[in-house]
Amino acid sequence: MHYFQAARTGGYAVGAFIADTLDTMEAVADACAQAGLPAVMMAGMATVRFLGPERYVDLCRSVGRGRSIPVYAHLDHCTDRDLLLRCAEAGFDSVMFDGSQRPFAENVAICAELAKKCHIRGALLEGELGVIAGQEEHVESAVSRFTDPALAEEFVRRTGVDALAVSVGNAHGLYQGAPELQFPLLEELARRCAIPLVLHGGTGIPGADLRRAVSMGVCKINVGTELRRAYMDAVRDYASQEGGTAIGLSQAIRDRVRPAAARYLEDYRPGGDRHAAL
Ligand code: 13P
Repeated sequence: MHYFQAARTGGYAVGAFIADTLDTMEAVADACAQAGLPAVMMAGMATVRFLGPERYVDLCRSVGRGRSIPVYAHLDHCTDRDLLLRCAEAGFDSVMFDGSQRPFAENVAICAELAKKCHIRGALLEGELGVIAGQEEHVESAVSRFTDPALAEEFVRRTGVDALAVSVGNAHGLYQGAPELQFPLLEELARRCAIPLVLHGGTGIPGADLRRAVSMGVCKINVGTELRRAYMDAVRDYASQEGGTAIGLSQAIRDRVRPAAARYLEDYRPGGDRHAAL
């Protein structure tokens, strides 16, 4: 059973975090191991272009070695089909094609083709339907368009994607005020789509809402901004002191990023047994 499906069956969500450096990966993996949940390291297009897909996968494998939890490599919000397939070829466990800005029929056609190609290469495909407000790398939208349940059902049936990112009031970046997740819509989406759902824009969503979303079928929660902020705060604070070392800086980053990730993971297994996730 693949990791998305195992999470849906087990009633928990995996910890999916934007992780561009070894220090972030180690901190995320430590937090996930502590929570007894699989870790999903997410790279955007800029990161895989910078490091190379093979190097990113190598880093994830290396961070996962000897741990009590699996560590997966995931490509986030990719709009470049060639790059996505290169990542699948390089060993990414899952990849996301972001066709949310395209017309429905085009998004369906591309995801259907990519799902076949990814599966041959042993990678899972995450699709997106509806528009998530905010900015994630180059993908940006000022407004959100909620995912339509009837279209979602058709999208899943016609594409063969393994997981679906939904827009239900979640947004990338920092929320202005408290986020208002549309739980009746999420429930309807989960009822109509047999596959695991993905909640983007995790930063700033209250724990109670995360727990409720997971209990309704959300199996992967993406968090980026919170870790980026923790990372940069650590760098700034450390650099402002005298006599630093590279190792000291790495340690300071890990010590700041680990709790930032751990805070979210507390709510990814509503009422579940910590060992059931592995
Ligand atoms: P946040 O930066 O809002 O946590 O969202 C991250 C994300 O959804 C990446 O796909």
